[in-house]
Formats: sequence, C-alpha cells, structure tokens
Amino acid sequence: MQTSLPPGPGGGPLVNLGWLLRPVPMLERWRRRYGETFTLRLAQEPPWVVLTRPEDVKTVFQGDPRLLHAGEGNPILGPILGRNSVLLLDEERHLRQRKLMLPPFHGERMKRHVDTMAEAARDEIARWPSGTPFELHPHMQAVTLEVITRVVFGERDAQRAAVLRDRLRDFLEFGTRPSVFARMAVMGAQRAADSRFLRAAMDPVDEAVHAVIGRRRGEADVDQREDVLSMLISARDEEGRPLSDEELRDELMTLLVAGHETTATALAWALERLVRAPHMLDRLRGGDEEYLDAVVHETLRRKPVLPLVLRKLTEPMELGGRLLPAGVAVSPSIYLVHHRPDVYPDPYAFRPERFLDEPPGTYTWIPFGGGIRRCLGASFALTEMKVVLREVVQAVRLQPADPRAEPVARRAITWTPARGATVVAAPAR
Ligand code: HEM
Repeated sequence: MQTSLPPGPGGGPLVNLGWLLRPVPMLERWRRRYGETFTLRLAQEPPWVVLTRPEDVKTVFQGDPRLLHAGEGNPILGPILGRNSVLLLDEERHLRQRKLMLPPFHGERMKRHVDTMAEAARDEIARWPSGTPFELHPHMQAVTLEVITRVVFGERDAQRAAVLRDRLRDFLEFGTRPSVFARMAVMGAQRAADSRFLRAAMDPVDEAVHAVIGRRRGEADVDQREDVLSMLISARDEEGRPLSDEELRDELMTLLVAGHETTATALAWALERLVRAPHMLDRLRGGDEEYLDAVVHETLRRKPVLPLVLRKLTEPMELGGRLLPAGVAVSPSIYLVHHRPDVYPDPYAFRPERFLDEPPGTYTWIPFGGGIRRCLGASFALTEMKVVLREVVQAVRLQPADPRAEPVARRAITWTPARGATVVAAPAR
C-alpha cells in the first residue's frame, strides 16, 4: 500500500491563525468539511492527522511506543523541564522514569492528601471578595500552586514554603509569556538552554528546588513521608538505582508545569458551568458525591483543558484503511471525540447526569490522553477538583457576573474561559 494523508485544509497563514485564535469553530468546520479524519498543516509542525473515531484513538493508545513518539514533539520545553523530563522522553528512558513516578500518583495514595487540599482551598476561599465581580481563574491557580507546593514538594516549613511558592510562581509567569516562547523558538532549544535570559529566570527556581531536594535527602523520616518528592527520593528502578538530583529536579519541574495550570483551568471551567446551573450547585451542596463525580467528568468532557494529544510516527502506520507516512503526527482530538453525537447525545449540553448512568469510556472520554502516556496526575487532578468544588459550594454562593456562557480562549496550549470565570460571591449562610 502506498502511503497517503487524509484530506484537510491546506497550510497557510489563515489556517494557522484560525487554529490559534478560533480553535473551536475551526476544528468543527474542518471536521464537517473533511470528515472524521483530516490532516492539519501548521507552520513549523509536521502534518497532524486529526483522529475523531474511537477505534482509531484506541489503535493509537494501544500502539507500540517505539512507533508512536510523544516525547520528541516538545523540544521547545527542553530548556525549561530538563533532559530527563518524563514528558520529553520516549521508549526505554520514558518507561524507566514513568515507572519510578507512578507509585506516588496512585489513586489510593491521593486520599491521603485530601485534607491538605481542602485546607488550601479553604484558605484561598476566605480571601474572595463579597458582592463584587472577580475572576475565579487566578484564585484556582493559587489553590493548585499551594497544593503542589505541599503535596508534590512536601515543604512543611511555612517560611520556606512561601519562598518556594513565590519562586515557582515567578517561574510559571515567565514560562507562559508568549515573548519567551517566541524567543526560544528563534534561538532553538540548545542555545536557549545556555542563554543568559533563560538562566536569569531559571536560576532562582532551580536553586530553590535543589535546596528542597538536598534538605529532604538529609531528613531521617524521608522513607516514611507521603509527599511526592520524598517518595521519588526513596524510589528505585529495576536495577536498584535511585533518581539523581538532576532527574528529581527535572521531574519536579515537569509535575509543576503539567499539573498546575491544567488543574486550575479545569476548576475554573467547572465553576463557569456550575454557576449557570443553580440546581446543580444545590445538588452538590446537599453532599451528593456521585453527582460530584459526574460533574467533574462532564466538565472535562465538555471543556477539555487540552484539546488534543500528539504522537509522531517513526514508521509508516496503517490507520482506518490508510497507510500514513513516517514523520507525521497522529492526533486523537480530545475535543472532537468528546462532542460526537453518537457517543454523547446532545453533545453541547452540560449534563452531568449522562455519567450517572454510564461510566466514562476509555477511548471516548480522554481528557487525560491514554495508553502508556496517559496523564500521570489524573487521579491527583480528579481528587483535587472534587475537594476544591466541595469546599467552594459549602463556603459561598456564586452567581455569574454575566449570564452569557464564557467562550474558549487559548492560553499557551490550554483552552481557558475567556473571562477568567467571572463570578459574584456571597457567603453561603
Ligand atoms: C485537569 C487536569 C489535567 C489534565 C486535563 C491533564 C491532561 C494531560 C494530558 C492530555 C496529557 C498527555 C497524555 C497523552 O499524551 O496521552 C498529560 C500528561 C501528563 N500529565 Fe497531566 N493533566 C492534568 C493534571 C496533571 C497533574 C495534576 C499532574 C501532576 C501533578 C500531571 C502530570 C502529567 C505528566 C507527568 C504527564 C506526562 C505523562 C507521560 O508522558 O508519560 N497532570 N496530562
């Protein structure tokens, strides 16, 4: 069989602009025009073959990791995350890091962090203004940063935790500036890594992270502690080798970058949806845990934070009766799969009830991707979302500042509520 690509919009500035500025209507238009599988050509990228059929998503998620590279797609993140980052590796090296990192993220383990998460949420809610409109998104970022500082870095000392948090926040702010990405793209990953402008931003955060690692290694109870860093320090691979300081630093930065903005945005979307459905808020206030689960699932279906995942083909691969050439990327479209009317009737309605009758499907509910690259922090994020929503509905009554739904805006690679999930709060009692 000859290799070929499915049809799709040609390349060019309009396609790029459409994807950058109006990703939702553009994806839907391309899907209508070219069908369930189409090719998207963006500047500086190999062609993306966008997949929306659950059977193709399954083929990709179950496929051989040697043929489907996820790590090499993000070289631009290298100077920030470091060369050992689980996000940037493929094949054996990826598997080694991933296996070492899995235990602290196990669903059962997360239950031990529930109290810490609830406390972080309560402290933050106490600072919300009453009676005037404000954006929830930055407050959700504050909660998720606090949770990462405590649960991932495990810093117990209040003063040191505050310093660490400030440096992490400065670094995150730097890393999401569009000008920084543009500059790094022009310089290329290697020159950027050594450049003075990057070092000036990275040195303070690296210093703080290495200090935490060094101190923790010296603590007598490190093998009994439950924070993620302590568990990573105690972890051993199949040959009995521990993670080096450099590896620990790279994975901590990876967890911060992968876990902070994503979870904050998912929480902002949950509340953006809920404040427009007072009966749902009432039901949550009544303590219906099954419904809370369903709300979280429906939020991540209807408003996925990341719209797609990518795997670069290292060899030609047959998919849906066509042989795709090596070098292209296949891209399960989280957004389009989540809006298939045959899987989700009335797909644009926000209706948590759909998940009360049926649990989410492995290849039809994919906000965390899938297979050997599935999000390591999925249980972490789901637990945190539920804990924070529980605290919010108990503590305050929220209303939308504007009854119109908030459209999707792009923030770096995430899809966020365009008005930051603006609400007006009043005390619950
Ligand atoms: C609602 C919040 C989150 C969403 C929507 C999300 C989504 C995703 C997605 C789509 C991927 C790529 C999966 C793939 O390629 O198949 C991913 C990977 C990853 N996520 Fe998350 N994530 C979230 C929260 C977190 C948290 C809280 C952490 C950790 C604290 C985390 C750590 C990671 C890591 C380490 C990877 C790379 C896994 C690998 O390459 O093996 N994520 N996430």
